[in-house]
Amino acid sequence: PTFDDFEGRGVWRHSSALPFEEGVTLPEGDTPLHYVPRLEEDVGVRNLRIKHEGMNPTGSFKDRGMTVGVRVAEEVGVDRLACASTGNTSAALAAYGARAGLETLVLLPAGKVAAGKVAQASLHGARILEVDGNFDSCLDIVQDLADRGEAYLLNSLNPFRLEGQKTIGFEILERFHDDEGRFPDRIVLPVGNAGNTSALYKAFRELVASGELDEDQVPKLTGVQAEGAAPMVEAIEHGWDDTERWDEVETRATAIRIGNPVNAPKALPGIRNTDGTAVAVSDEQITAAQRDLAEEGIGVEPASAASVAGLRKLRDQGEIGADEDVVCLTTGHLLKDPDAAAEAGADPEPVPNDTDEVLAHLQD
Ligand code: F0G
Repeated sequence: PTFDDFEGRGVWRHSSALPFEEGVTLPEGDTPLHYVPRLEEDVGVRNLRIKHEGMNPTGSFKDRGMTVGVRVAEEVGVDRLACASTGNTSAALAAYGARAGLETLVLLPAGKVAAGKVAQASLHGARILEVDGNFDSCLDIVQDLADRGEAYLLNSLNPFRLEGQKTIGFEILERFHDDEGRFPDRIVLPVGNAGNTSALYKAFRELVASGELDEDQVPKLTGVQAEGAAPMVEAIEHGWDDTERWDEVETRATAIRIGNPVNAPKALPGIRNTDGTAVAVSDEQITAAQRDLAEEGIGVEPASAASVAGLRKLRDQGEIGADEDVVCLTTGHLLKDPDAAAEAGADPEPVPNDTDEVLAHLQD
């Protein structure tokens, strides 16, 4: 594709790079690329922008994948859509499945999915199965169901999902180039199954193939994982072509509590060939970054804040230079995980039902 081919609105503006002209749409895409001047100065890079994917219809980037994936499911003519999920995929599938009038089934790790996401899946009418296991076990089961012809799989293993998610890359490059007259040096993003990492790399390769982008203009793909769930970081450190599955995973950023990143064989070459890297951050660093973004008015869920936490860590280590133009991807909205937000923020102060007493309290 070339930028001139892109017209219309949201994800489907990029239909020249997608398998259909239009999809099951709510609509999705065209998310903001925020300036964050204070954070930019504090972290110490030339330019820092936040691509806030939490501003999609169901509050995460998954909508970009579902608008294409559910369209394909319609084309194939399936009875039941299914996914395993740490929450956001299930919310998006439930909404897009409902929009298409199709039955949806979601498998969630019991007790490990943020409240907002379960509420969405529930209200949009998905049948929700809570599995006594982690996300990776849920994905094993749903893959078995798909193999037995019981459901159409809409996890990021489905390549049509990633086609839709490529549009994150198109939007970032177009917008950043319009604003700055050049392309960003680096894109930093949270990594779970590494679907976005793979999708961004594919978007860049397509733009290079069509002559829109020079090889040396491709942004460095930089993945961030939570320390308690970091098989991609381990693979990058060892120069592996695939990850080794982590059976035990834990992090406050439940969206990326994943031990077997199924898209690693596509994402690892993306990180290496763009001269990027991967880094792990602690839950404390994630919470601090969630507050940093909140102070700029940008509300994100913990997994999303991992991108900013990773940027700060790599900048502090000198692996990211002060002269770089960086875009951090924030993948999900604050309201997805209200409990995490309330824990990271200030507590409400109880006061009597009386103006004088309220004033006295404020003056204390
Ligand atoms: N950020 C958020 C908010 C997510 O929900 C996910 C994945 C990721 C980052 C990781 O993206 O898999 O492309 O590397 N959530 C999936 C789900 C697993 O089920 O909602 P990835």
